[in-house]
Amino acid sequence: MNAELTRNNDSKAYYTFRDEEKEVEFKRHDMPTPWMNYLSNGTFHTMLSHAGGGVAFYKSPQIWRITRYRFFHLPMDRSGPYIYVQDAKTGSYWCPTSEPALDKPEEWKSAHGMGYTRFEAKRGGIAARTVYFVGPHENSLIWNLNLTNEGTEAKELKVYAYAEFGMMEFMRELQWQCYNKHQVSVQYHEGEALVYRYGVENQPKPEETPLVYLAADTPLAGYDGDREEFIGSYRSETNPAAIENGGCTGSTLLGGDPCGALQFNVTLQPGESRTINVFLGTATDETEVSRAIFHSREAGFVEASFQALKENWSGYLGAWESRLPDQDAERMINIWNPYQAHRNFLFSRNISFYATGTFRGVGYRDTAQDILSVVPFDTELALDKLKLLLGQQYRDGHVNHYFFPNEGWEPVTSIHSDDHLWTALSAWDLLAETGDAAFLQAKVPYYDGGEGTVYEHLRAAIDFTASQLGSRGFPLMLRSDWNDQLFRVCREGKGESIWTSMQLGTVLLRMIDLAAAAGHPEDTVRYGAMYELQRELVNSIGWDGRWFRRAIMDDGRFLGSDEHDEAKIWLNAQTWATISGMADVDKGLQAMDSVREMLDTELGIKKIHPSITTFPDPADPLTNYNKGTGENGAVFCHANTWAIIAECLLGRGDLAYKYYRQLLPNVAMDKAGLWRYKAEPYVYASNLFGPESDKFGLANVSWLTGTAAWMYVAVTQYILGVKPVLNGLSIDPCIPADWEGFTVKRRFRGCVYDISVTNANKVCKGVKSITADGVLLEGNILPAYPGRSSVKVEVVL
Ligand code: NOJ
Repeated sequence: MNAELTRNNDSKAYYTFRDEEKEVEFKRHDMPTPWMNYLSNGTFHTMLSHAGGGVAFYKSPQIWRITRYRFFHLPMDRSGPYIYVQDAKTGSYWCPTSEPALDKPEEWKSAHGMGYTRFEAKRGGIAARTVYFVGPHENSLIWNLNLTNEGTEAKELKVYAYAEFGMMEFMRELQWQCYNKHQVSVQYHEGEALVYRYGVENQPKPEETPLVYLAADTPLAGYDGDREEFIGSYRSETNPAAIENGGCTGSTLLGGDPCGALQFNVTLQPGESRTINVFLGTATDETEVSRAIFHSREAGFVEASFQALKENWSGYLGAWESRLPDQDAERMINIWNPYQAHRNFLFSRNISFYATGTFRGVGYRDTAQDILSVVPFDTELALDKLKLLLGQQYRDGHVNHYFFPNEGWEPVTSIHSDDHLWTALSAWDLLAETGDAAFLQAKVPYYDGGEGTVYEHLRAAIDFTASQLGSRGFPLMLRSDWNDQLFRVCREGKGESIWTSMQLGTVLLRMIDLAAAAGHPEDTVRYGAMYELQRELVNSIGWDGRWFRRAIMDDGRFLGSDEHDEAKIWLNAQTWATISGMADVDKGLQAMDSVREMLDTELGIKKIHPSITTFPDPADPLTNYNKGTGENGAVFCHANTWAIIAECLLGRGDLAYKYYRQLLPNVAMDKAGLWRYKAEPYVYASNLFGPESDKFGLANVSWLTGTAAWMYVAVTQYILGVKPVLNGLSIDPCIPADWEGFTVKRRFRGCVYDISVTNANKVCKGVKSITADGVLLEGNILPAYPGRSSVKVEVVL
């Protein structure tokens, strides 16, 4: 048997949710993988694991990476912002984070919360509580350490704060560090701090590259800026030489391997507590460094920063609160799903335990989808991002695939059939959320010169697709569509995407509204005609008999057809046929029945079936992924969200909910077994290996995935059915028949809608009546209530 399956799979032994505090608490440090959190103020960021490993960066993990994290390397999850607590008499030392010292705390737990991670540990009568967070008032990671002597004798302690600085440019570090390492320095700053300066030839944006400081609010007993002096050779963070040899050596560095280590000597009487705050931060120049350190040391700064962080998150998440019969879902919807989605919005697919933060930049397609989950919480933030994306659009309507707003690098310019279309969905959602069409007239530059209104950008996207149709009339695949792997079946430029036709259809329906709102009624007619044409194609050429086909390959054969032995059926073509409203009713139902029969597993829905080994050509198979992994027959969680939406549109609430619940991360983990699932139980992963893999249920690429945004949309707007539309808030739940009801408080156009849904009739779908403050409503769309702060809504199904 596989060794990992014999390990302790009892997830309760590892973690527990604390929903009131919006936290997940960990009881052991030895998880199968590091379970991460992201601490950020939007400018300064730290990814930090439950065991204290992680990486800090300023704006960009590609060019301003401050600390070093050794992706993929052993030992796992190194390095991090570590604290060491040493008994000055015995010399023994340990870490409140548990890792990386060998001596472990006698009692230990850690927890991730909204924008912070805390550690509580005890050893030898000393209790240490550390909270790491990035506050809104300075660009720094704050390490708030509190030590208490719980013993009966006075304790002399040496306490160390340590971070390994990396070269700021990750790729240059891999390639050129042998030369460039002698161009960096760590110097002692007169205000009792270390300052790391990165400045090498040809670095991007030298004038914007910050200085890094490591400082504290407690007098220093020593410091080191040279990793060789603090850690020593043939040693690691597990057994730093300086700690074992009596203390920091006072090293600075003019070339070499930089680090920041601070030493504090502390004597604690029995019962006495002491707080030490450490600040790992960035500032533009020496004067700013001094100012930032001075500010950080002011009384109350740390407390005020933490308070502001808490308030920011409760304000953000205050836009929605639901009470459901399913606690796992409730927690995910109220807390972790929007939190994860916000991190996607911030980092795109850049840096996680799985992604090294290298050359990913901002993906146009990915970020356009992420916007959907931020619109309900912060329309300004969403609109800014929409404009940022539209600035990557060319006058002919196509867009850059990836771009690098922080790094200033040239974008990735491959042209995909879907990228440019996604932004219409974000724009429609913004319009529905705000009810204000003014933003459609805002001017945004084109990437290749000139400018157009937001609406003109969106129209250009449609025009581009209209100019790129294949010989059968579907949109040309171009480099690929949403599915990155498809480039192999369209290299000759003849391949057509049936799925993109469905995406286009979905977008056209939104564009009809947007054109009307922007004062371009003439376009609505054209969009309607395009929609009808594509709808006709989807239901004729696109139909395979029991499901919809996925694409037409360069050689004219269909992809996703019963006539092949491999990759017969593709999930996206079935779900979007219904989402787009294009599928004839019987075909839509039949297609989703085929999904259930052929693609559903007890751990989510596979993207294709059967997996590919030789198709379409043994010498050039469509994908190199092993069977059941990644993009080849794995459960692709992002695409599962669309199955949930499609089932809701078909009115099958029980099935929609089954699809939703089976991918709740903690539910999937319990089913697969913790040591098989491996990733975090509080955020979605991009995919789970499928049954054709020997690691069925292994979760991969957690945190940064389009799953976050779309799960949020699927469950809030389609299962719970609370969906902004142009003329108000539509209420149309599609729930399991055995639910007795649920409640939602949702902020919408300045008013809190306090909605209570009852389902005494045990149906999945169908609103019987709605009253708002006791007044019976006609239809199921609640109007906006300008000037009102709340409205009580009773819904009967
Ligand atoms: C992950 C990529 O980030 C995303 O852009 C793509 O749509 C999916 N993989 C599917 O291929």
